[in-house]
Amino acid sequence: MTRTPLIAGNWKMNLNMGEAIDLVQAIKADIDVSKKDVDVLVAPPFTYISEVARTVDKSGILIAGQNMHWDHSGAYTGEISAYMLQDTGCTHVILGHSERRNLFGETDEIIDRKVKAALERGLVPIVCVGETLEQREKGKTFDVIKDQLNMSLDNLKKNKSMPPSTVLAYEPVWAIGTGKTASPEQAQEVHAFIRTWLNKNFGPNIASSVRILYGGSVKPTNAAELMSQQDIDGALIGGASLKADSFIKIIHYND
Ligand code: PGA
Repeated sequence: MTRTPLIAGNWKMNLNMGEAIDLVQAIKADIDVSKKDVDVLVAPPFTYISEVARTVDKSGILIAGQNMHWDHSGAYTGEISAYMLQDTGCTHVILGHSERRNLFGETDEIIDRKVKAALERGLVPIVCVGETLEQREKGKTFDVIKDQLNMSLDNLKKNKSMPPSTVLAYEPVWAIGTGKTASPEQAQEVHAFIRTWLNKNFGPNIASSVRILYGGSVKPTNAAELMSQQDIDGALIGGASLKADSFIKIIHYND
């Protein structure tokens, strides 16, 4: 089974509308002229999604929300639903990013509800897991990852069913925005662990189809080495996705 690599840019709370459109136009121009052996995705702030969707047009660039609520509508001031994301042009949604977990108190249980809601609406979830530096130094990395997977994908586990398009992302918290990247071997070890977990819970077909992205200080200089690892199927990129030059270089990691 060959998995098409996915290069995903998480813009977080950055850029203004003009910069967002310039960035996506530059990515689109590059993709139009280059061969498409990778999938490319951007996750803009909510207010830019419609305009970004208009700009990407039929280029094949995928769009994700950075978060969503688990309910489909209701009295949730400040929240956004899976349907609203889809209605503005998203096919994917990032769920359980460590910034959501650590800064906004999202628990695995909340993430589990969101994963279920996203799938009910036909959005592909990109579910993030990752350990802190303290957890790594105490030798708890695999326990933490296993618990996060078990709890944030509990609904799917109970039904023994995961769509093959589901995306997981291993993002060690100590590597996000810090300039410290996990070594390719450190990342591969955790990706292989996640793949084994998928196999155990969902069987070999799902384990071989689900893409597992690495995230945490991915840059043009380290992308190729990370991507050369057997179980690393793409990258979830924060800082380096905000500039067309560096993001496009990562898309071309293989050239
Ligand atoms: P970074 O962020 O590339 O800036 O480290 C990655 C992420 O948070 O997804």
